[in-house]
Amino acid sequence: MTTVKKLSEWHASMRQWRRHLHQFPETAFEENETARFIAARLREFGLDVHQGLGKTGIVASLTAGTSSRKIALRADMDALFIQEQNKVAHRSKHDGKMHACGHDGHSAMLLGAAGYLSRCPQFDGTVYFIFQPAEEGRAGAKRMIDDGLFKLFPVDFVFGMHNYHDIPEGYFAVKSGPMMASFDCFEIVVTGHAAHAAMPHLGNDAIVAAAQVISALQSIVSRTVDPLDSAVVSITQIHGGDTWNALPESVVLRGTFRCFKPAVQELIADKIRKTVEGICAGLGVSGSVVFNPENPGYPVLVNEPNATELALLAATKVAGSEGVDLCPVPSMGSEDFAFMLQQVPGCYVWIGNGPSEGGCLLHNPHYDFNDAILPMGAAYWVGLVETVLPAEV
Ligand code: NI
Repeated sequence: MTTVKKLSEWHASMRQWRRHLHQFPETAFEENETARFIAARLREFGLDVHQGLGKTGIVASLTAGTSSRKIALRADMDALFIQEQNKVAHRSKHDGKMHACGHDGHSAMLLGAAGYLSRCPQFDGTVYFIFQPAEEGRAGAKRMIDDGLFKLFPVDFVFGMHNYHDIPEGYFAVKSGPMMASFDCFEIVVTGHAAHAAMPHLGNDAIVAAAQVISALQSIVSRTVDPLDSAVVSITQIHGGDTWNALPESVVLRGTFRCFKPAVQELIADKIRKTVEGICAGLGVSGSVVFNPENPGYPVLVNEPNATELALLAATKVAGSEGVDLCPVPSMGSEDFAFMLQQVPGCYVWIGNGPSEGGCLLHNPHYDFNDAILPMGAAYWVGLVETVLPAEV
């Protein structure tokens, strides 16, 4: 609790930063002004600032004591393509873009923690503060990793945090193991032979084949996946045909699937491919599947047990044991922090944003990060650093 009190001195600054970022939201890989603003604050704190990983990503480092141990704390910086409906003074000034997922708050909390720790470095080791781009569907975390994030800045653990609408203000939720689902998209092209609709026997009907593919895909979860595992396969688009009296050459289907185990993810992908190929071959048309044609899919987000214990200790210091939910229901939502957890053991927690105006959820045009939780979030980061990298006494 004392850490929250110490961080309250940073509350006004964090609120100011948060509202500034909220006013000027930037989307995937275009977080140039956002990165400039954050990097300027980090340099004011005296941190070493490295820019350009993942195009707009930032890694700032702070060392205290003599230990060679290193950890990374990560916030995301990007906004969404949503037109803000809030009327608050700090509403978005960028048409069609807004911070509807609270990444403005994430950046402000991590900045607050960096500021505090630069003044009161009660730890022994090195902390890397990661500000990543493009969390929303564009896999900015993967881009930073591909650019050498953990080769340039190797760490023992990496930690992440996200605000959440369903959790009381300043409470935490965390669990070991899978906490958020994988996310994959797919595009199926069924190619037949175009024909007059009155003479289907002279062609190969891609529409009838596509319809059977859709039905068959719905039996993957019910007949292939273990009933005790969670998974969902959804077709979300059908494109085919231009007129009333002609069978088209091809039909395009698009969709997504999500689950909580890498093995199930592989199983579903394999089953989709075999189902499409098998049905299409049987009906005399050809079928092809491309997975994640535009952006990488996201892996299952899996918290490592030891890192989770450390995160739990830090969260309990902030919210007390009654303020930490140890058994949150995993989310079918996805998070690209999962890529970082594939590289390095770590843990991702949710911090409660409390009830929003009208009960709106993340990604709602009325969503606004709750400034009241800024000190709690920053205190969690500080507590985590002091827990994982304890100073010699
Ligand atoms: Ni988010």
